[in-house]
Amino acid sequence: MEFDVLIAGSGLAGLSAALSLAESRRVAVLTKRGATDGASDWAQGGIAVSLDASDSAERHMEDTCAAGCALCDAAAVRFVIEHSRSAVEWLMARGAPFTRDAQAASGFHLTREGGHRQRRILHAADATGHAVMTLLAEQAQAHPNITLFDAHFAIDLIHSARLGLSGQRCYGLYALDMRTGSVRTFRARHTILATGGAGKAYLYTTNPDTATGDGMAMAWRAGCRIANMEFIQFHPTCLYHPYAKSFLISEAVRGEGGVLKLPDGARFMPAYDARAELAPRDIVARAIDFEIKKRGMDCVYLDIHHRPAEFLRAHFPTILARCLEFGIDITREPIPVVPAAHYACGGVVTDVYGRADLAGLYAIGETACTGLHGANRLASNSLLECVVMGRAAAQAILAASEKERHEIPALPAWDESRVTDSDEEVVITHNWDELRRLMWNYVGIVRTDKRLARAAHRIVRLREEIDEYYAHFRISRDLLELRNLVDVASLIVESARFRHESRGLHFNRDWPEMQPKGLPTILSRAFSSRVTTGASAKRHRENH
Ligand code: SIN
Repeated sequence: MEFDVLIAGSGLAGLSAALSLAESRRVAVLTKRGATDGASDWAQGGIAVSLDASDSAERHMEDTCAAGCALCDAAAVRFVIEHSRSAVEWLMARGAPFTRDAQAASGFHLTREGGHRQRRILHAADATGHAVMTLLAEQAQAHPNITLFDAHFAIDLIHSARLGLSGQRCYGLYALDMRTGSVRTFRARHTILATGGAGKAYLYTTNPDTATGDGMAMAWRAGCRIANMEFIQFHPTCLYHPYAKSFLISEAVRGEGGVLKLPDGARFMPAYDARAELAPRDIVARAIDFEIKKRGMDCVYLDIHHRPAEFLRAHFPTILARCLEFGIDITREPIPVVPAAHYACGGVVTDVYGRADLAGLYAIGETACTGLHGANRLASNSLLECVVMGRAAAQAILAASEKERHEIPALPAWDESRVTDSDEEVVITHNWDELRRLMWNYVGIVRTDKRLARAAHRIVRLREEIDEYYAHFRISRDLLELRNLVDVASLIVESARFRHESRGLHFNRDWPEMQPKGLPTILSRAFSSRVTTGASAKRHRENH
């Protein structure tokens, strides 16, 4: 299969890139489930943009850098925020149905979230991601230059080193067609990784099942640098209910007056931070974790029932309906909540056009680390980054392709001649469960050196088993996801072990102070001997 541009991932970043390229390029979008099955579709809050007359891009930049705890890349922050207006105008021109407010000068209702000094979140009620993704997916599906390959799992990049060639260039990727079980070879001059984050590395997460760090792991295995993986954001308020898998209670609920309470109704956030419930997420999540552990509770409560029922129905229809399914009426009672893994601030190192370390390879959205988020992402900066970076990567590709008319060599087909059908699938389910549990227990909201060392030790053993299994048995979606998750878990743990301080989302009880100067953690297979890689010496398959 040959295209001008391959995009792995059909979330907001991937589709923003696809639609920006499709007028003049033939684009393939690969998605391992359906077009809207990723995390973008689940995003509730909205898109941070300074539309109010009292606001400015400068203030938005200051809030981003304050949340990022002196670790944001100033150029990336400036680039993304300076392009925020044009990004939302692009979405509006495509028909994005943002919630309006006739009283506001901008004409739009802007809500508030933690870490923002003012109302700045453009939203579509409480289902912004769904509204935007439904629209873009329809437009991508209808576009004659975009071919959507659903049920296609990107396995690994095809690059110079893998082909035994000199240089550092990406030529495409192998993908498992999950309908037929066969592996297809995709060739392209430009490959974009937009596969989202890695929340499934943790037992409790707000993310959909698709968030298994596929792009990060592929880029790492291909030799790209990965940065800041220790900064995993735990969202403070995930619904706590035995049957509610991964349901987020948007930060906008706190933005509109929701308060966090203990079972006896007492507020606790004012004792932790002057901004109380609207402190940045690292502070709120740690406070909840501390209270839960100190008092031996299962959860805390988020209460917004003091706002008029009509207001709650208009602003939070999705949350209201979902909570009611579990017997919780948010107009009358508080919502039980716990923190859960939500967002990876780190990822594949890129510049502000999404360019990664291999020529012809780009990473955008949660897969990438542009430096925008630093040590803690400011709420609703992620959908913004998806649109800005999707469009920026498209711009770089459109500008580059005339200059870069390099030949793509013949690419070998996937070789399955030395593998057989699995005899013990239980290895996958057991290791998947063990990995996510150990990440939750040892590499969660509060870390210690001993816990991180334990995690690192267990991950080496798990990787040996997974690599051996991968070397001998035919691939499946579960096996590929587990292989990616163990790579990503290893990157998180090793990054956390390198950081001898507490900053933003990384809190280590053995290193509670913040160093005066903030430096990113950059892991490279070429330079980091402490990081064991996913490439198993024992692999029989020649494809690796
Ligand atoms: C939320 O609605 O709380 C999530 C928004 C975000 O993660 O930026």
